[in-house]
Amino acid sequence: MKNITILTGAGISADSGLATFRDNDGLWNNHKVEDVATYDGFKSNKKLVYDFYNNLRSEAKNYKPNEAHVALSRLESEYKDGKVTIITQNVDDFHRLAGSKNVIHMHGELNKARCEYCLNVFDVDGDFDESTKCEKCGKDHVLRPHIVWFGEMPLYMALIDEVLNNTDLFVAIGTSGVVYPAAGFIARIKQIGKAKAVELNLKKSETNGLFDKYLEGKAKTTVPAFVDKVLEGKDLF
Ligand code: OAD
Ligand code: ZN
Repeated sequence: MKNITILTGAGISADSGLATFRDNDGLWNNHKVEDVATYDGFKSNKKLVYDFYNNLRSEAKNYKPNEAHVALSRLESEYKDGKVTIITQNVDDFHRLAGSKNVIHMHGELNKARCEYCLNVFDVDGDFDESTKCEKCGKDHVLRPHIVWFGEMPLYMALIDEVLNNTDLFVAIGTSGVVYPAAGFIARIKQIGKAKAVELNLKKSETNGLFDKYLEGKAKTTVPAFVDKVLEGKDLF
C-alpha cells in the first residue's frame, strides 16, 4: 500500500488561464489583500468583498480544467496500490470538474457560501450578497464567501495531518511555498520521515530544498508525464 498525496496551488490552474496570486497580474490585482481577503476587510466593506468574489465566480466559469487536472483524476481512478488524495489550496472547482473525487479544499470554495449564523455551507451558482437568505436557517445578512481569508484557520487541518501521516509519496504542484500552513506540509512530511517528495513547478518554490526531486515546467506538460510514470510503476527517484 503506497498512498499518494498531492498538494496543488494556483500554478496548476494557471494553465487553464486563471491568474496566480504572486506572479504578474495576480488575482489581487487592483485590490489590496487586506481589503478582499481578510475578515476585517469584509466587515469594513461588505459590498466590495461580495462583488469581488461574485466577479471571480462568474469569471471562473469561462475556464475549464486542463491536462494536469485531468491527469490527476486519471491517477485517482487508475492507481491500484493505495489511496490518492488531493489537498488543494485553490478555490476553483477544476479538480472536481476533471473527475477527481478525493479532494480536500483547505482554503474553501468559490462556488459555496457559508452562513455565519448556523454555519451551513451550500453551493451557489450565481451572485450572492447580504440580501441573500441562508438555505438552511432562512436568515439574511449572514452569508459570506466560503473562502479562508488571511488570519483564518484553514479547513480540515486534522484530516490533513492524518493524510500526511499516511503518505508514502508527497507531490507539490504549482505552489509557491510561502503561505502557511500549506507551505509547511513538506517539512511535516520530512519530520514524519516516511514519504519521498517531488515538486513540480515552473520555477523552484521557497521550500524546494526539502524535496527529493524537482520537475520543472508547465503543469499541463509535467503532470501528465509524471502520472504516466507513476501508473507504469517506474522508479521515480
Ligand atoms: P502563488 O501565486 O503564490 O504561486 C503560484 C505558483 O505556481 C508559483 O510557484 C509559480 O512558480 C507556479 N506556477 C505558475 N504557473 C505555473 C504553471 N503553468 N505550471 C506550474 N506551476 C506554475 O499560489 P499558491 O502557492 O497557490 O490563499 O498560493 C497559496 C495561497 O496564497 C492561495 O491559496 C491563496 C493565496 O493567499 C487563499 O486564498 C487563502
Ligand atoms: Zn444559516
